[in-house]
Amino acid sequence: MTETVLNELEKRLGGRLYARQRLGIETDHEAQIFGQGLNFFHIENWYSIHSVIRTLLRLTGLYWRGRANAARVQVKHNEVGLDRLPPAFDGFTLLHISDFHADISDGAMEQLEKILPGLSYDLCVLTGDYRGPTFGPFDDALARMRPVLAGIKRPIYGVLGNHDTIRMVPGLEAMGIRMLLNECEAIVRAGASMYLAGIDDAHYFRVDNIEKAASTIPHQAVSILLSHTPEIYRQAAHAGFSLLLSGHTHGGQICLPGSIPITLDSVLPRRFGAGAWTYNDMAGYTSVGVGTSIVPVRINCLPEITLHRLVPPI
Ligand SMILES: [Fe+2]
Repeated sequence: MTETVLNELEKRLGGRLYARQRLGIETDHEAQIFGQGLNFFHIENWYSIHSVIRTLLRLTGLYWRGRANAARVQVKHNEVGLDRLPPAFDGFTLLHISDFHADISDGAMEQLEKILPGLSYDLCVLTGDYRGPTFGPFDDALARMRPVLAGIKRPIYGVLGNHDTIRMVPGLEAMGIRMLLNECEAIVRAGASMYLAGIDDAHYFRVDNIEKAASTIPHQAVSILLSHTPEIYRQAAHAGFSLLLSGHTHGGQICLPGSIPITLDSVLPRRFGAGAWTYNDMAGYTSVGVGTSIVPVRINCLPEITLHRLVPPI
């Protein structure tokens, strides 16, 4: 832990405690396979098994088709009906990109650079996992993010994922992303407001604080929560959020025919694993993500970016 990073984060976060906690947990549990986080086993941290999976895919002849799939980025459209949506926000569109794993997903990043300039939206949200590995240097991930971000219109908001260190925050913010670290911002349009909050990683580092993120949101206001993992859907719904946008699951990334995931690496009912869903009064969406991790392959689960269009209740 360097004092320079800590001082920079302290200034950004308005105090030492949260930065110290996050960095301390990173140091204690970085790349731990068993025991840390919401689920017990973390395949993303078991690096020796990754080459075994790659070899198995090569032996079954699926590897090269899966690699080609990993660059076939789809633009998905999701209409979200929201109660109490101010008329000024009728048709407001959010571009949602998740799970870049930018330094190890070059094919998908190249496709993103081609697709992004042609899209029309009002605001962009990023739901974490900018880095490929779960530990070590992050300069390559930030460098690969830079040309992609150049094609995205501002404002851009983001949260950290379980592959990200909080030490990346100054670099991400220098590139124009307003990171929401258990924080919230009002989005104002024609005198009306809705609220966009974001929490830090709840899956592995468990440094999420929904109560703090939601503390300035007025009762009954339309509010959107960004969380890397959808595993906190109950807490988000009971906190009164209108919409939860998340990623993390990769939709399984390697799926059986019919997009049936082998694992979602989450404590989560299958119906929350990919695409649109609802829980109580809250709408939700789990992006299958744009990049890949563990192996650079997607099978029966193409990468996506998503345009969420807000409308009055459908
Ligand atoms: Fe991811």
